Amino acid sequence: MQPAVEIKAASPPILLIEGVSVRRNKTDVIKDVNLKIYPGEFVGIVGPNGGGKSTLIQAILGVLKCHSGRILISDNQFSSKGAFGRVAWVSQSAANLPKNVRLTVRELVSLGVLNNKNWFLPNRASSKVEDAIALVGLGHLAQRDVNQLSGGERQRAVIARALASEADLLLLDEPLVGMDRASRSSLLKLLDRFCHEQNKTIVMISHDIAAMLQTTHRLVYLEETIWFDGPPANFPDLEELALMRGIEDVHGACEVCDDDLPPVLEAE
Ligand SMILES: Nc1ncnc2c1ncn2[C@@H]1O[C@H](COP(=O)(O)OP(=O)(O)O)[C@@H](O)[C@H]1O
Ligand SMILES: [Mg+2]
Repeated sequence: MQPAVEIKAASPPILLIEGVSVRRNKTDVIKDVNLKIYPGEFVGIVGPNGGGKSTLIQAILGVLKCHSGRILISDNQFSSKGAFGRVAWVSQSAANLPKNVRLTVRELVSLGVLNNKNWFLPNRASSKVEDAIALVGLGHLAQRDVNQLSGGERQRAVIARALASEADLLLLDEPLVGMDRASRSSLLKLLDRFCHEQNKTIVMISHDIAAMLQTTHRLVYLEETIWFDGPPANFPDLEELALMRGIEDVHGACEVCDDDLPPVLEAE
């Protein structure tokens, strides 16, 4: 595993998040988030449900507006020409394709390369499609209907769609959900390879902290704001993490404090 942050910092960040807050229903769901991500890093974002992980991804994609702060992709706003095509997103449950959609793996992956220049000439991009399918190890299933794939294979297919776009920055929202242990492990190895061999940058959300600790180069703990950002080896243990977030050990409560609590009703 590479200690990413110090080494990669020599190049300018591919993703710069500065003082970002995002409001939903008039409430800040993320506050003062600061993050610099460098080319080739594999960054895991972990945190509790509702902690703002998907919100942050949507803000990076420009779908949600920042209430304050700014987000730049290689020095460009997401909506600008300079950022065009540089970011690919695999949404939460992207692999749960509707059952009535009849597409082969090759057709699904081809959707990743469609743009206004090749709309009428889809074959122009076919080598990118074949490369992406091969990279995720689905070459032998390219003609298979996506509904006939296992959960793990389908997840690889939607990742191949993102890869075919040749984006440098891949944002993956909970790609491990619903995958069996073996598929999870091979997907994580594959993602690590993309970073090392192709200098792709991966930002991956997962609540599987153990898997993230083993595979990412850098871990970020997000719950409204960033509580930890660093190499997995320095990631706090559960007790430290709870204390950081102001959660006390209720079992270790002292007797004096217990006096302040309402009496527990005893069964008759
Ligand atoms: N579409 C929405 N409209 C309003 N609030 C939302 C919406 N989606 C999520 N939220 C709220 O934003 C907060 C962060 O949610 P989310 O970013 O989905 O968290 P995570 O991905 O970490 O589970 C939660 O309090 C959630 O209820
Ligand atoms: Mg989410």
